[in-house]
Amino acid sequence: MNADELKRQAAEAALEYLPDSGVLGIGTGSTVNHFIDLLADVKGRYEGAVSSSEASTERLKKIGMPVFDLNSVGDLEIYVDGADESNHYLHLIKGGGGALTREKIIAAASKKFVCIADESKLVDILGAFPLPVEVIPMARSYVARQLVKLGGTPVWRENFITDNGNIILDVHNMEIAEPVKLETEINQIAGVVTVGIFGYRPADVLILGTESGPRTIVP
Ligand code: 5RP
Repeated sequence: MNADELKRQAAEAALEYLPDSGVLGIGTGSTVNHFIDLLADVKGRYEGAVSSSEASTERLKKIGMPVFDLNSVGDLEIYVDGADESNHYLHLIKGGGGALTREKIIAAASKKFVCIADESKLVDILGAFPLPVEVIPMARSYVARQLVKLGGTPVWRENFITDNGNIILDVHNMEIAEPVKLETEINQIAGVVTVGIFGYRPADVLILGTESGPRTIVP
């Protein structure tokens, strides 16, 4: 099976975690796109969704799912999203698609975070995937210098602006042995909007698509 088929398999397995009704939190990326497509069959059960990106909002609207502002709904029962990497504690790197800030907000406001991915995303130590950091544009160079001091090699994701109007630095060569510590340090840098480490709010369940069927990890 190719990676896309494994992503679809994980997305299918996540349907079992859906509540009977209410408002769903929906993330961003190619794995979530499969999940949104699958939601088309069950969308009538739900009032609607809160979405982590303009791209997912558009896709949700295409299947006829109403999309709400997070401010108009309370805490969510469930958030379903992908990841770029997960360790065995379900600390994640996210933001490959640039939606990390809204993803982190919705994950924080959700009772259960179900992460869906193909099996290649499970790693022992986070950091082989360049760590996305959303930055206020005027702080780009300053933040980059601070990230170098932390041992990383930041690369400006050129020609990319987030849904919030900011830029992304992708930090290479970070071996993230202590995700919560590094999340705190990077979030303290003036000009950083969000770092793509999900350590304070890890996933609650990780569903991996594998050659032998879906594998579920609950730490
Ligand atoms: C977007 C994300 C995505 O969840 C992450 O990049 C995984 O994407 P994909 O499902 O396409 O592999 O964090 O900001």
